[in-house]
Amino acid sequence: MTPLPFGGPPAEAGTVYLVGGGPGDPGLVTLRGAQLLATATVIAHDRLSPPEPLTLRRDDAELINVGKQPARHALSQDEINDLLVVKAAAGEAVVRFKGGDPFVLARGSEEAQACAVAGIPFQVVPGITSGIAAPAYAGIPVTHRSVAPAFAVVTGHEDPSKGATQADYAALARFPGTLLLYMGMGRLGEIAAALVDAGRPATTPVALVEWGTTPRQRTVTATLADVADRARQVGLASPAIIVVGDVVALRDEIGWFEQRPLHGMSVLVPRTRHQASELSERLRTLGADPVEAPTIAIEPSRATEALRDAVASLVDGAYDWVVFTSSNGVDATWAHVEQLGGDARWFSRVRLGAVGSGTAEALWQRGLLADVVPERQTTRALAQALIAAASAAAPRALLPRADLATPTLTAELRDAGWDADDIEAYRTVAAAELPDGVAERIRDGGVDAVAFASSSTVRNLVDLLGGTPPPATRIVSIGPVTSQTCREVGMRVDAEAESHDIDGLVAAVVAATRTG
Ligand SMILES: C[S@@+](CC[C@H](N)C(=O)[O-])C[C@H]1O[C@@H](n2cnc3c(N)ncnc32)[C@H](O)[C@@H]1O
Repeated sequence: MTPLPFGGPPAEAGTVYLVGGGPGDPGLVTLRGAQLLATATVIAHDRLSPPEPLTLRRDDAELINVGKQPARHALSQDEINDLLVVKAAAGEAVVRFKGGDPFVLARGSEEAQACAVAGIPFQVVPGITSGIAAPAYAGIPVTHRSVAPAFAVVTGHEDPSKGATQADYAALARFPGTLLLYMGMGRLGEIAAALVDAGRPATTPVALVEWGTTPRQRTVTATLADVADRARQVGLASPAIIVVGDVVALRDEIGWFEQRPLHGMSVLVPRTRHQASELSERLRTLGADPVEAPTIAIEPSRATEALRDAVASLVDGAYDWVVFTSSNGVDATWAHVEQLGGDARWFSRVRLGAVGSGTAEALWQRGLLADVVPERQTTRALAQALIAAASAAAPRALLPRADLATPTLTAELRDAGWDADDIEAYRTVAAAELPDGVAERIRDGGVDAVAFASSSTVRNLVDLLGGTPPPATRIVSIGPVTSQTCREVGMRVDAEAESHDIDGLVAAVVAATRTG
């Protein structure tokens, strides 16, 4: 892969890299960490290391989950140390990918010691620790000039009522600043009581931030007196950071992450396997947890000669228009241009039509500006816009389309006297199955909304699921044709996009979840 800017050199054979993955938001992985993940040959990860950055790995990298898995226990720390040493000694470039920072209330230091003892070269890549990041995403700064001049990072793993703890609760109660307790949810009541017994006022504000920086983030605020009861009522559990101190009150003023319109909503995005998921990115920006489910795959046409010959004839002026109804059509056509040794100049004698902004964008990426893009993203609107824009009497048009494309566009153009050459550019086939766990998650109501961008994804999802999603799941569609298909398969449509594009679909998801 292309080296990341500022990512440093690739992972070297025979070396162990202790990489902090940050608290969960994949965007908080450092550039150095991402570079090493992308070049390591072995990656050892666990439950608290963020999963998304692992997708950067090489295809041939060995991925080892050293945390608990359904069929077996977690590896012990000694076993993890041995694994890192053995793999590096065998010539692998090993990344030990950890949540937060590898040296903050974590056992990265022991892993470094094991490497040092075995004579294995190692490097440490610090990460953003959850004790700072989770409160920051909850709108709680760990220091503030007029509220808290210091913060202390403390383990809550020990039982303060047993006396013999490393953490000195009398000193912590006196500490002039914010306390950040990790791993304390199992002993929340004891910790709060120990701080009050040691002299912290029972009215001291406390925040609990669960799954901080991820779409699952939840925050509860309370006081030392009632925090354990509040956590129980709300069902808050590990992993969470316990923030003790007056900075907690700032959340009312500068909370931001949980205030985003789709925070905490999981939205299923059925899509083709190869499409870059702009929709997922947009939903994520608004706070949603997009669950991607490829339901259709795009495959090359079995009869490629027809499109190749048509593309070759562009330079001879065989067509007045080339009209695209998807970015896949643009991809397939451009592949022929490249294979034939052509470039954007081959389109200099034709005008270009695109069904919507995504298709126009695919053309633009090849240096081509669409002449006609209808306001409504439908093939009927495209036909009308083309007919209105045509200057010649019987325009000759090339339409590189999917094998299953609806006949509307071609029929309308022909009715208007066009000579329309509808050629199969690619095939859409149903995906064989949903990714692991996705079908169960949908059936169990673990998905708040489904965003359908086409009729074929509606039918394929229902086929793959063996039924429709449960009634509480909000169904959102990109336009009237997709909505009609939803109803035909027995689903109620909760919101339909006003503009039939990604913007419209995202706005409809927000509307559907608000009414939910
Ligand atoms: C073994 S410690 C590891 C800490 C990690 N090295 C760090 O720097 O964040 C695990 C504890 O970190 C905290 N933690 C980790 N990820 C978290 C997250 N996303 N939100 C809240 N707390 C988190 C929890 O208190 C959890 O019990």
